[in-house]
Amino acid sequence: MIPNPPLRADPADCPPAPAACPPVPAAPASRAPASHEGAEPPAALRVEDLHVSFAQPAGRTRVLDGLTFRLGAGEIGCLLGASGCGKTTALRTIAGFVAPERGCVHIGASCVASATRQLEPERRGVGVVFQDYALFPHLDVAANVAFGLRALPASERSARVAEMLELVGLAGIGRRFPHELSGGQQQRVALARALAPHPAILLLDEPFSNLDPDLRERLALDLRDILKGQGITALLVTHDQYEAFALADRIGVMHAGRIEQWDTPYRLYHQPDTRLVADFVGLGAFLPGRLEHRDGSTCVRLELGVLPIRKRADEVIAGASAGERGEVTVLLRPDDVVHDDASPLRAEVVRKAFRGAQFLYTLRLPSGATLLALVPSHHDHAVGERIGIRFDADHVVTFDPRS
Ligand SMILES: Nc1ncnc2c1ncn2[C@@H]1O[C@H](COP(=O)(O)OP(=O)(O)O)[C@@H](O)[C@H]1O
Ligand SMILES: [Mg+2]
Repeated sequence: MIPNPPLRADPADCPPAPAACPPVPAAPASRAPASHEGAEPPAALRVEDLHVSFAQPAGRTRVLDGLTFRLGAGEIGCLLGASGCGKTTALRTIAGFVAPERGCVHIGASCVASATRQLEPERRGVGVVFQDYALFPHLDVAANVAFGLRALPASERSARVAEMLELVGLAGIGRRFPHELSGGQQQRVALARALAPHPAILLLDEPFSNLDPDLRERLALDLRDILKGQGITALLVTHDQYEAFALADRIGVMHAGRIEQWDTPYRLYHQPDTRLVADFVGLGAFLPGRLEHRDGSTCVRLELGVLPIRKRADEVIAGASAGERGEVTVLLRPDDVVHDDASPLRAEVVRKAFRGAQFLYTLRLPSGATLLALVPSHHDHAVGERIGIRFDADHVVTFDPRS
């Protein structure tokens, strides 16, 4: 395959944006209140109401169906979703390899793609790291990295190549060929090649999928350091939530061509807007409960006891989610359930998975419902044992039981 070269554009080349892009429906509001983070940085990338469909044997299939999000300058964003949900299509549309039928892509102040406008990929100021890295096998590392720098004089070009290889921790291997490198090194060369022409935005498609699981988290943290150190705005797509959590400032959980929730990793995990997000991000159990009000505060009565709702925002959501008699569905994450030998609340161990520092216990309640608990691994209990637990949930996440 001939890979697409790294892309570069001089913003001054961009024709002016058209007078109007299609009207944009408001992004769905998060159930959670806005955080106390500072003012949002100016948008480096705005994707609004993007619609893309493809002709397939079974007929035309819509792959992006109103994709909408905004990425601030210097932020790292991530589209997280199951295979086939449209992540690569989203990146390809932003990069300029696929044209949208509706909606628009803004990079900086310019509309680069809409139903009536399609700026060439090489004029969008976008660098791409492809899933298979797409290095040129017949070119050495230095020539690969120099690929997007042909317009520079030779001395500047080789200085920039050396700078990029140093940045990604590969100084001195410019004369090697891609087949002589490990997967992790190839990925770094692909990153150096994409960054060399100073793109306004870096796009990465499943950047760690070809690497050993052990390496992934470390490389994800290294990559984050590089991007943050250079102030680069980046969007990655992945199906792996741990990669997303390790790298991204903001994550959009994608489903069926649109974003269910665009939020910080912390809020996606602890304050998911929908059951779909709660299910996709992290482990947990959904248990039936009932809201109770006591002495001016609200709590949820569960089979095994009472869970106080400490946060006002969670209380408001619980009130709005509850059925006529206060019935709600409660999300309990494994870290909301604490093992405590002294607790009178007991649950039976039905499964255990050793995770090094912790066991992940699956516990059965008397009703037959199960929940998960992460327990330090020196508490080594046998399957069938009844162990003490208590709840320690900072956020109590509730859903409408009819949803
Ligand atoms: N060029 C194309 N022609 C037809 N169908 C496509 C094309 N590109 C992607 N698709 C289809 O779009 C859907 C989403 O694909 P993709 O964006 O690659 O998903 P993901 O990256 O989330 O796995 C899949 O069903 C895929 O087969
Ligand atoms: Mg993909």
